[in-house]
Amino acid sequence: MDTIINSSSEAWGPEASLDAAVSSKRTYLLFGLGFCGLLAIWHYLTPSQHGQVKEPPAVSPSIPLIGHFLGFYQQGIQYLETLRRKTPWPAFTIKLFSIKTYVVTTPALSHVALRSKSLSLEPLSATVATRMLGLSKAADRHFGIDERGEFVGSPTLGERRVEFSKLLGSGSTLSEPSQVASNAVADAVNKFDSNWESHDLFMWLRDVITVGTVAGLYGPKNPVALDPTLIEDIWTFDENQLRLSWGIFPKLVAPAGVRAVNRISAAFENYIHSGNDKLGSAAVQTTIAALKRLGLSDNDYSRLEVFNISVATVNTVPTAVSMISAILADPKLLFALRDEVQAIAATTTPPTKKHAQLDMAAAQTACPLLIACYQEALRIGSLPTCNRAVLEDTTLVDPDTGVAVAMQKGHRVSIPTFMLHGRDQIWGGDAQKFDPWRFMPGGSAADAKGRAREQGFVPYGGGVHLCPGRHLAKAEILASGALMVMALDFVVGGEMAGASAAEVRAKESKSGAKKPKAAERMVRIRRREGWEDVVWSVKA
Ligand SMILES: *[C@@H]1O[C@H](CO)[C@@H](O)[C@H](O)[C@H]1NC(C)=O
Repeated sequence: MDTIINSSSEAWGPEASLDAAVSSKRTYLLFGLGFCGLLAIWHYLTPSQHGQVKEPPAVSPSIPLIGHFLGFYQQGIQYLETLRRKTPWPAFTIKLFSIKTYVVTTPALSHVALRSKSLSLEPLSATVATRMLGLSKAADRHFGIDERGEFVGSPTLGERRVEFSKLLGSGSTLSEPSQVASNAVADAVNKFDSNWESHDLFMWLRDVITVGTVAGLYGPKNPVALDPTLIEDIWTFDENQLRLSWGIFPKLVAPAGVRAVNRISAAFENYIHSGNDKLGSAAVQTTIAALKRLGLSDNDYSRLEVFNISVATVNTVPTAVSMISAILADPKLLFALRDEVQAIAATTTPPTKKHAQLDMAAAQTACPLLIACYQEALRIGSLPTCNRAVLEDTTLVDPDTGVAVAMQKGHRVSIPTFMLHGRDQIWGGDAQKFDPWRFMPGGSAADAKGRAREQGFVPYGGGVHLCPGRHLAKAEILASGALMVMALDFVVGGEMAGASAAEVRAKESKSGAKKPKAAERMVRIRRREGWEDVVWSVKA
């Protein structure tokens, strides 16, 4: 998951603020202002001298001063793509007053940037999180902000991140939450019968995935299980992140956002006070213990979880929706997947009900097309903007072209992955089209064994800030895909039926919105013919 602003997949860090923008012009304006505001906020150190290596060329707007604002206002995040075309360099600089953002635009250079030790997300998270979540002064220290309000770094923050990633990386501390999350999808699928029901695919998956993810991470007595209306608050928070991050009169500028933060954090305070955290995953329990050791208050803990719970859910949902809607738009693909997933289904016929269990560990080798659909959904549906602060003057070399670019301490780096995931040159043409075959062995996005390319494919961000929840998200998205194609029949109505995935995607990426419009998402769902009486389950 990604400035703490939206939480696209380099989740758990301040990324993706850029694609938090939604469709209206007004939002573009806010976006433009926010972008510039953030630059101002994050410019925390003075620039130093030049070497011979040059900084990426500064692209100047056609109208001085207000040009960049106008560009974002009119084009949203796509404005960055317009700027990219103005220079052959693998990066360009947006300069606003004394603040520079180096926007990295090629797969090879972003690969290097994400791995550079001189670039870090932490100064950005530190400033933005405290502002956005309304943390106490005491929490500053834990983020590595000193009394003067300057970022000096905190080793424990990194240690916690490593520990958290490890627990959600493999073994039973991953498989338990994955199992719980997948069970939630199976429960939802089992509720259908042979009658057609109309559903908004996005909302249906949103609720199912949120309930599952949150139960997997926080246990059966989690805040969402006790109060499902919090799901709406999680999305409200996500939509308000950019405005909250400005830190200027939040109650006036983002009243709904403030209310959502308060509601979610109150529920987490209650969670920890009533001891329900004892039933949470190892990752969550370890975090709570670590924060207690650091002397962080329950209130600050609860506020931090507002961010984590949002990152953990708002990125998984659009990816799952991209995948399912593309499958539903292509009957041949749906039938091919049914054939493939059949191989991992074990059916039994006990006296009362028929059972079918999907073995998701076996899917790793037995279901290459399903995995390819997941990769392709990530490429199209998970577009974090990875933001970093430059910790010290540094030179990055683009391995493809040999071009060296200088970056000065105190400025910012931005890697908008929509530019990488959506460019024809990088993906063998037709990058806007959902085409899982490109991730199959020998396809343009995979090697002969079907391993996905690494360069230019960063749905979960990268480097030390690679999303720790990626394995859990993968388990859940694959389980949703497998269960839905096997257990259900669909009729796709409204606009989505006519529109190709590419058209839907093009609309979404223009608006930068994570939610397709309601009319594009209506589907009718029932149990798959011939499988009406089967009880489905998943072995994660
Ligand atoms: C939130 O997620 C991060 C990993 O990105 C983790 O280190 C941290 O412990 C989690 N929980 C809280 C309350 O910060």
